[in-house]
Amino acid sequence: MRMVDIISKKRDGEILTDEEIIFFVKGITRNEIPDYQAAALMMAIYFQGMNASETLTLTKCMMHSGETIDLSAISAINVDKHSTGGVGDKTTIVLAPLVASAGASVAKMTGRGLGHTGGTMDKLETFSGMNLHLDRTTFINNVQQYGIAISGQSANLVPADKKLYALRDVTATIENISLIAGSIMSKKLASGADAIVLDIKVGSGAFMKTEKDAFTLAQELVEIGEGMNRQTIGLVSRMEQPLGHAVGNALEIKEAIETLKGKGPKDLEDLCLSLGANMLVLSNNARTYEEGVKILKEKLSSGEALEKLRQLVQIQGGNPKQVDDWDLMPKATHQVDLMATSSGYVSDLDAETVGLASMLLGAGRQTKEDRIDLAAGIYLYKKIGDAIQENEVLATLYTNDESKLSLASEKLQSAYAFSNKSPRKQKLIIGKVSKLGIEME
Ligand code: URA
Repeated sequence: MRMVDIISKKRDGEILTDEEIIFFVKGITRNEIPDYQAAALMMAIYFQGMNASETLTLTKCMMHSGETIDLSAISAINVDKHSTGGVGDKTTIVLAPLVASAGASVAKMTGRGLGHTGGTMDKLETFSGMNLHLDRTTFINNVQQYGIAISGQSANLVPADKKLYALRDVTATIENISLIAGSIMSKKLASGADAIVLDIKVGSGAFMKTEKDAFTLAQELVEIGEGMNRQTIGLVSRMEQPLGHAVGNALEIKEAIETLKGKGPKDLEDLCLSLGANMLVLSNNARTYEEGVKILKEKLSSGEALEKLRQLVQIQGGNPKQVDDWDLMPKATHQVDLMATSSGYVSDLDAETVGLASMLLGAGRQTKEDRIDLAAGIYLYKKIGDAIQENEVLATLYTNDESKLSLASEKLQSAYAFSNKSPRKQKLIIGKVSKLGIEME
C-alpha cells in the first residue's frame, strides 16, 4: 500500500477502506509517514469528509495507537465528561466534585491548554502542590475510595492523535467534523470511560461556528460512543460569550469554588446541573434527569460538593486551605479596569476575542513551551444584555507583567459592542443529542 494512493483516493472523494485507514494510523504512530503526506491527507479529508464508517474505523485505530486504560477494577460505572472547549470553561472543576459528591465515579484524564486559557490541568495547578501525574494504581485507588481522581493524560495515550492534532493545528485542518470526532472520542475511549457526557460548544469562542455543524458533530460523537458500547449523550451549548465571569486560571478556580457554594454565575451553574444530571442518570445515580438536578442542587446547598473539592485537592497533595482562603491564591501584581465610555447595553462580548486578550495577559499559551501566569486573566462584570452607565467598570484585567496591559485592554475593548436597546437573551443550552435523536430545549 502507498500513502500517495490513499491521498489521491480521498482527494477525489472516494471512501477509504479499513485497511487504508489502519495503514495510515499505524504509519503515523510509528513515524513512518512524513508530515507532508499526513498533512495532505488531512487536507483531503477536510474538503471531502469521511462517512460514519470511516470515522468509526479512524477512531478505533487512534484509540489503539497507544496505551488504553483499564478501569474494570472499579466496580461502579465510570462516567466521563468532555467539553469541546471554550473561553472561561471551568465546568470540569465544578462538575467532577459535584457529581462525585452525588455518588458518581469520576476517573478523569485531562490535558493542558494551548491558546486562549489553560486547560483543566493548568487551572488545577492553582492549588499549590497538587499532583496531576498520578500513577495508575493511585488513580484507580482514589476513584474507588473517594469517587474521584483527576490526572494528566499519560504520554502514551493516543499518540496518533498527539501527532495528528499538532499537524492539524498548523495546517488549518482542525475544523473538520470527522477529524474532531475521531480525536475526541479516541481519547475518551482510551481513557476507559463506561459512559460519556459531551458538552459541544457553538459560537465565536468554539470550533463549531454554526448550530447545524454543532449538532452534526454531536451526532457523530454519540454515534461513535454508542458504536463502541458506551452510553453517550451530547449537549449543545452556546459559546458566543465566555461562560461565567472569570477567564484565566486562578480566577476560574475561584469562580468554580463560588459555584460549588451555590453562589456561582447562573449560566455556569445551569450548564453544570444539566451536564451533571445526565452524568448521574448514565451512572445509575439518578432515575431521571429531573431527579438528577434535584440531587445536585442539594449537594450544592449542603456543602457536600465543595467538601468533595477540598478532599480532591487534599488527596492529590494540594493545599485545601486555598479553597476557603483567597489570600492563599496566586495574585497578580498589576490590574486595570476597562471602563464604559457611554451608557446603554452590552450587545456583544465576543468569546474568542476575550480569550485572546486573556492569553495576551499571560493566562494562556501561544506555544507549547510558554509558561502560564496563573494569576493572569479577566473578570467580566458586564456581559451580553447587561445595562451599563458611562464610566462604569466593564471588566478588570489582571497580570504579573505590566507591559502586557495596554495591548490586552485594547483587545478586550474590541470584544465588546454596545447598543441603546436591550438585546434578546438567548438560552445557553440549545439541545441534547442521544441515541434516541435530537431534543431541542
Ligand atoms: N478537541 C480535541 O480533542 N480534538 C479536536 O480535534 C478538537 C477539539
